[in-house]
Amino acid sequence: MKIVVIIPAAGLGTRMASPQAAKPGKPTATKQFVELRGTPVLVHTLKKFASNPEIAEIFVPLRKSEIDSFRQRLEREAPEILRKKTVLLEGGEHRQQSVANALAAVSADADDIVLVHDAVRPFVTDEIIHDVIAAAAKYGAAITGMPAVDTVKQVERTAEGAIIKATIPREKIVMAQTPQGFRYDVLKKAFDEAAADGMVGTDEASLVERSGHQVAVVMGSPRNIKITTPADLDLAEFFLKR
Ligand code: C5P
Repeated sequence: MKIVVIIPAAGLGTRMASPQAAKPGKPTATKQFVELRGTPVLVHTLKKFASNPEIAEIFVPLRKSEIDSFRQRLEREAPEILRKKTVLLEGGEHRQQSVANALAAVSADADDIVLVHDAVRPFVTDEIIHDVIAAAAKYGAAITGMPAVDTVKQVERTAEGAIIKATIPREKIVMAQTPQGFRYDVLKKAFDEAAADGMVGTDEASLVERSGHQVAVVMGSPRNIKITTPADLDLAEFFLKR
């Protein structure tokens, strides 16, 4: 059973000021290229998968204009990532299309495992990666997630903010993290069906659920944060220090 990982990093959406970006004349960086201790968050994340013995191949959708310079940067600063079969390819219009482009470049048997992991979750551990692989092999589809600790409200947005419409029992809620892992045939079928129907989801599991396949959840970690805001960067610096 071969295990490959897709790490979509072609977004240009959310831009976040980093300590480097605060310097005059320096542009803000897309969140996957924001630097932590002089290294882009994406590179921190790639190192985790490059050093994991279970992972055979890594596929990274990027914006076309960034592929060559990113490869050169890896050659200079993190050549160990390129020692695995690491494929840098052109992403698409949105995350799902970027993952679809990578999936089209993957050559796998039906029961090989494809993981998809957020570029901006560098604190993923070998243990979480292993647990998702094992559950994906057993059930065909699995994600890592955390129980909700806050009370969850369903709201209707208003001009001033929001009005609560319902309270969702938090024992029924899991906050989805990544990696998300799938048997190749399960993920391919879900992506083909979503493409045929023009459905766009915010994660891969939502496409697989829609395709009628059950998705298992394994316990994630509160440290497996998605670096999205400047406050997350502060937390990431703290985790790195330890
Ligand atoms: O902005 P959001 O959190 O939805 O992005 C999730 C991930 O998908 C990011 O790592 C981003 O780089 C990636 N992405 C992509 N291709 C796009 C848009 C987003 O690979 N066209």
